Amino acid sequence: MTEETTRAVRVVQARWEAEGVVSLRLRAADDRPLPSWTPGAHLDVVLPSGLVRQYSLCGEPDSPDYTVAVLREAAGRGGSAEIHDTALLGRELRIRGPRNRFELEPAGHYVFVAGGIGITPLLAMIRQAADHGVPWQLHYGGRRRDTLAFALELTELARRGNGEIHLRSDDVEGPLPLLDIVRAAPTGAMLYACGPGGLLTALAETVERENPALLLRFERFTGEPAEPIGVTAQESFEVELAQTGETVTVRSGQSILDAVRVKRPDILSSCEEGFCGTCETKVLAGEPVHRDTLLSAKERAKNTTMMICVGGCASARLVLDL
Ligand code: FES
Repeated sequence: MTEETTRAVRVVQARWEAEGVVSLRLRAADDRPLPSWTPGAHLDVVLPSGLVRQYSLCGEPDSPDYTVAVLREAAGRGGSAEIHDTALLGRELRIRGPRNRFELEPAGHYVFVAGGIGITPLLAMIRQAADHGVPWQLHYGGRRRDTLAFALELTELARRGNGEIHLRSDDVEGPLPLLDIVRAAPTGAMLYACGPGGLLTALAETVERENPALLLRFERFTGEPAEPIGVTAQESFEVELAQTGETVTVRSGQSILDAVRVKRPDILSSCEEGFCGTCETKVLAGEPVHRDTLLSAKERAKNTTMMICVGGCASARLVLDL
């Protein structure tokens, strides 16, 4: 993404939601309505330092503002520490999106599994399930009770009658009982999960072994590529930037992103490992090689878009919408 594709918002509220979790309410700086969104959507947020991070929207979809919640991650890559350590109230940030790669599909029953800050996309889904009267149950685990953000609101949603909530903390009840959750899932239910990679891997293995008919959808909230990815050595190729007609050469072993930055220093990126989607770029001609962990097989086959931080090229030339 470039500066032109982003939009300015002002931080109009910063609030503690739990130990180590702060929520930010973002309002359009120009007072024009922000685009609508659906549960599971996320924003790219450009922090004051220029770092770009992705956060799930967890507020009300019909609110004029966006809300995101951020956990301070001691072992993170600096984005969460910047949000926690900077006086952001009243400041302008730039955002791109929302985009949704974690849509809530229609189902007769939902089972939600959240690990820690993975509750954020699920909170919006649970509100929708509650509003539509679809039965749901939530299994929500964290290190301690005081780290479980939005527990009160979730309990209120469950009280409306069609929801059940099971809170667990590692220090009292121990980890989430994945085996019991998967075995007890009602027939025809969909299982939505978000949390640390270890939890999601264990959950996927449990579903495969115990209840393979159960439909599982999940989103990892940190970048954990499923397999090692990166720029592999290949012959150099040309990339044409269609908006200006300029051409750059991508050398063997170099990323398209790095090569293009020489002409377009304002291109934004975040993970640079193919999992966040910040550098997603439209392909107008040529044959891209996809090495990201975001695009589905269908999207890859279409070849209309690619992550230029890790992607390559199987033809002599690529034309990108840049
Ligand atoms: S910068 Fe994250 S996918 Fe390219």
